[in-house]
Amino acid sequence: MAFRTPFRSVSTRARQTLRIGMIPADGIGHEVLPGAKAAIQALGSSIPKTEFVDLLAGFEYFTRTGTALPEDTVQALQNDCDCAMFGAVSSPSRKVAGYSSPIVALRKKLDLYANVRPVTSVASSPNGQPDVDLVVVRENTECLYVKDETQIIGPNGKEARAIRLITERASRRIGEMAFKIALNRPRKHLTIIHKSNVLSITDGLFRETVRAVPTLPGVDGKYGSVTVAEQLVDSAVYRLFREPHIYDVMVAPNLYGDIISDAAAALVGSLGLVPSVNAGDTFVMGEPVHGSAPDIAGQNIANPLAAIRSAALMLRHLGYTDGADRIERAADEVIREGKCLTPDLGGKSKTTEVVDEVVRRI
Ligand code: NAI
Ligand code: MG
Repeated sequence: MAFRTPFRSVSTRARQTLRIGMIPADGIGHEVLPGAKAAIQALGSSIPKTEFVDLLAGFEYFTRTGTALPEDTVQALQNDCDCAMFGAVSSPSRKVAGYSSPIVALRKKLDLYANVRPVTSVASSPNGQPDVDLVVVRENTECLYVKDETQIIGPNGKEARAIRLITERASRRIGEMAFKIALNRPRKHLTIIHKSNVLSITDGLFRETVRAVPTLPGVDGKYGSVTVAEQLVDSAVYRLFREPHIYDVMVAPNLYGDIISDAAAALVGSLGLVPSVNAGDTFVMGEPVHGSAPDIAGQNIANPLAAIRSAALMLRHLGYTDGADRIERAADEVIREGKCLTPDLGGKSKTTEVVDEVVRRI
């Protein structure tokens, strides 16, 4: 099912050409992003003329140059691009001096405060109901991902600490986005994910602030039809696996949202299927939910559908609904037919063959 973006179009710059920044970054990012580009190009004249701006970032780039996110890339996105597509980055699990994840930095620099991740299974018939049809709305700028970590030598040895930041402002704007998304979906149901039984101050603030969105000045009963539930994050994952149909829109602080959306991806068959957009008020960046998948990189077997669907989400966000629909329909058809699938979905096809098949159907 198509994901209806309720927020305003960000394509406000008076340009005849849609300029799309392309940041493949690392690993399979290089293999799946060309698929997203091919899908957009296949739309032909149903969207404005497109120009792709190739941009650098990532761990591979860091190892060559000592910087993971060059200032040129940030400037190009801010000044020359209407939107962007990001592949995936290979952030090492150990501390590497001078390195910091460029995607986390980009989300902050461009104030892309929402990571919207629709997780939808493809129904067996085009008009059937999918079993899983939910959207994770993840706060994208704070929580533990402010990465304010320190380590000291205490009386009992090493002590490491991380600051977890939750602000009323960020919680309110992600809450507003989640309510808007819920309002535009058939079921209009929002679940607030938190752990305020333990983290009563930080998660408590998140929970209360999101809950209060319908009472904000100017809202005027607009969200009266949205039902609101809440669930502790641990039992939310349990229920997600046992009864995914209870969820419609799930709004969560950054870390929980990250984990829940990867978990939800398992319900629809593969991380290689789940798209996202990083959205702010003035910019949008499509990005598959998966990482750089070093275990399969360089083999032309990564599933390109998450990246292709992310391109569709980005276009939908910009108001190009028909183009987005065409890409999503083509991807859904390929999955439903089951003849041209990458190994993660039990198929034998190559990345490039799946891209060709989607493009043919667009
Ligand atoms: P991952 O998402 O890269 O891979 C997890 C598993 O899913 C692997 O078995 C992989 O082969 C499979 N997978 C992922 N995408 C696939 C696709 N398109 N087609 C087929 N199979 C796919 O997560 P992992 O392994 O935990 O992390 C690898 C690297 O990616 C790390 O360096 C991590 O920091 C980075 N990462 C980057 C993200 C980003 O750029 N936004 C998000 C998550 C992880
Ligand atoms: Mg993740």
